[in-house]
Amino acid sequence: MRQIAFLLNGDPVCLSDVSPTTTLLDWLREERGLTGTKEGCNEGDCGACTVMVTGADGARAVNACILLLPQLHGRAVRTVEGIAGPDGQLHPVQQAMVDHHGSQCGFCTPGFIVSMATAHLNGRRDFNDQLAGNLCRCTGYAPIVRAAEAAADQPVPDWLTEDLTKLDTLSGTGGDFAMPKSSDELAAWYADHPDATLIAGATDVGLWVTKALRALRPVAFLAGVDDLRDIEIGADEVRIGAMASLTDAGTAMRDLHPDFAEMIRRYGSVQVRNAATIGGNIANGSPIGDSPPALIALGATLHLRKGNERRQVPLEGFFLDYGKQDRQPGEFVEAVSFPRQPDRLKCYKISKRFDQDISAVCGC
Ligand code: FES
Ligand code: FES
Repeated sequence: MRQIAFLLNGDPVCLSDVSPTTTLLDWLREERGLTGTKEGCNEGDCGACTVMVTGADGARAVNACILLLPQLHGRAVRTVEGIAGPDGQLHPVQQAMVDHHGSQCGFCTPGFIVSMATAHLNGRRDFNDQLAGNLCRCTGYAPIVRAAEAAADQPVPDWLTEDLTKLDTLSGTGGDFAMPKSSDELAAWYADHPDATLIAGATDVGLWVTKALRALRPVAFLAGVDDLRDIEIGADEVRIGAMASLTDAGTAMRDLHPDFAEMIRRYGSVQVRNAATIGGNIANGSPIGDSPPALIALGATLHLRKGNERRQVPLEGFFLDYGKQDRQPGEFVEAVSFPRQPDRLKCYKISKRFDQDISAVCGC
């Protein structure tokens, strides 16, 4: 078993007998007694399990129910129990929720508080978007959004500062899952384990675990493969690394192809877009993945790698049939690229609900 280390509400945690398919939600509730983080849908749809995860890319809200423990290695996680100050002083969003009557039964409230605290920390004021991944059945959203607005000008409490250097002396050692730190390391490992499952954001694989109860072995967690995270906007070409999150891809598309950015805004929720990657969205060939239609319309090319061999295919040619892709065992997606071009892209996503819904039709 492999050792992983992360900060939990500011304190270092080092775990040495971690199963690669233990979710953060189960571990928090069953092993740590931190039951403030709620289980609603257990599939990334309701936000009741929202936690704040901080890494080199800043603080992001993610769903703990489809986050596997090894994904946290080297990061800081903050649950609702760590949002108030050490002396019990409420965070501004907590006080505002009290003042504005933002909670009735309270089941959704911890998830809302963590999403609101993360948006507050990041200075986000697009509250309808920031909270679209948190479902409330009884209070209604108006008092909750009013609370978020009321807290927006308050300073970020200093107790939310994460000191990741506390993890410097803790490091992982070999075990029954891999955590490659570069695409070269990944390529070598995957060539030796071509039947392995690669886990990037786990927004899909998480459901194989929580809903299909699949045991996944061997497994590689790609969170440390930072060289596949870059988004390069060159004079002739745009290249999006496979590990770029949907959030970062959406931000990059805002000026280049606003319709694409707008479609990504409706892809899952903030929590899902923060975890999900462009490469995962393409590689697993989900018939409901929304990014390929836009990328195909832009004339995208897929960059694949197996060991030290690389090949490129038109993205359109990668999808051979329903659930069948042109990917060999041991081959993985490095990036997707498309030519720089004047913006003529139009995207149409039709779904029963505006936010966070599967497309009934997606056309680009
Ligand atoms: Fe619903 Fe996690 S329990 S998103
Ligand atoms: Fe009951 Fe939101 S307060 S679900």
